[in-house]
Amino acid sequence: MKITFYGHASLGIEVGGKHIIVDPYISANPNAAHIDIDTLKADYILVTHAHGDHILDVEAIAKRTNAVIVSNAEIAGYYSQKGFQSHPMNHGGSWNFDFGKLKYVNAIHSSSFPDGSYGGNPGGFVIEGEHKNVYIAGDTALSMDMKLIPMRTKLDLAILPIGDNFTMDVEDAIIASDFLDCDKILGYHYDTFGYIEIDHEESIRKFFNKGKDLMLLEIGSSIEL
Ligand code: NI
Ligand code: MN
Repeated sequence: MKITFYGHASLGIEVGGKHIIVDPYISANPNAAHIDIDTLKADYILVTHAHGDHILDVEAIAKRTNAVIVSNAEIAGYYSQKGFQSHPMNHGGSWNFDFGKLKYVNAIHSSSFPDGSYGGNPGGFVIEGEHKNVYIAGDTALSMDMKLIPMRTKLDLAILPIGDNFTMDVEDAIIASDFLDCDKILGYHYDTFGYIEIDHEESIRKFFNKGKDLMLLEIGSSIEL
């Protein structure tokens, strides 16, 4: 499994020979100006919730690639009404896709579209790939529900928001990694706006002091699991 960070909460995931884009917010992110959304491959676009900083480039990428948009039933319905291919899910449900098993899990946040349309309740995803398993938290507070995830899935990586203000901060993300039974963390949802700027070295050190590995990727760079 290869995971590429496209800035903010945007990810590219290659798994099972398929290309997945998660929460694309790239074209308006000045930190990601070197990423051209017209070059991104996508068989699927996973959307955690309907906020503008997670859906901005969904339609442009889906139009070009014909990718299937996977999200909660309300978000999937919103896009299917606009003529896009979608797969509706809801919290606690899993589906065996051709790239692996995907589960939509709880997040504590909100989820209206920028135009005010109802975006259902926000979520995160657990991907069980061929060899590796990853949790993408989406925008969320620290939640006791995170303890449920390792009861079903042994995680190899947890992708957690760490920017504070709209989501967990670093301290809560450290507790989350305990709940998730996963000491390998990719941080996201930081630095994009003034509200969520973090001190990188201090954040990495706080995780390190608890025996955990926080990775902060350059935008456009990748890790292999
Ligand atoms: Ni949000
Ligand atoms: Mn957000």
